Amino acid sequence: WEMPALALALGYLLGSIPFGLLLTRFAGAGDIRAIGSGNIGATNVLRTGRKGLAAATMLLDALKGAAAVWIGEAIVPGGGLLGAAGAFFGHCYPIWLGFRGGKGVATFGGIAFAAWWPIGVIYLVVWLGVLALSRYSSVGGLAAALSAPVAAFAFGRTDFGILFVALALLVFWKHRENIARLLAGTEPKVGRKSG
Ligand code: G3P
Repeated sequence: WEMPALALALGYLLGSIPFGLLLTRFAGAGDIRAIGSGNIGATNVLRTGRKGLAAATMLLDALKGAAAVWIGEAIVPGGGLLGAAGAFFGHCYPIWLGFRGGKGVATFGGIAFAAWWPIGVIYLVVWLGVLALSRYSSVGGLAAALSAPVAAFAFGRTDFGILFVALALLVFWKHRENIARLLAGTEPKVGRKSG
């Protein structure tokens, strides 16, 4: 059981690196948790007005998810699933931040790419497409999260499909404040100030 546990633990450690918080802090852009929605993700980093930092946050949060899958798979066959679960949980509930982490959209995307790249492509297209149409980052992320298990099952990747159902549920749970704001009509659109 040591190897599966190692895949899970390394995934958690990778996932728990809060890139949004670290990049904004090192760039002198303040504490991201005191800005906008208070979230540590790329959408909220964008609210600092630093587009490059937001892009880097998105890429690194995605990359850590993908890396956890690759490392897990290298450790033990089937370990990619464990690495993915660990990374996603680590991003959403990092021990370093009192378990107050991000909402999982970028990390889920990286995991989807590493699981099987066409799932990642569908995830990205749904995410950006719905974001472009709705102008709500949260709606794009929620739609992408839903697309991942559907795509995984459609491509016959049942193992990842089952995991992705759980991850999608967690994405919705972490977006409960966004969903309440959407229903109340107070969710900020991308490109506008405040959150
Ligand atoms: O991935 C997070 C995004 O969907 C919403 O972020 O900062 O608007 O809560 P935020």
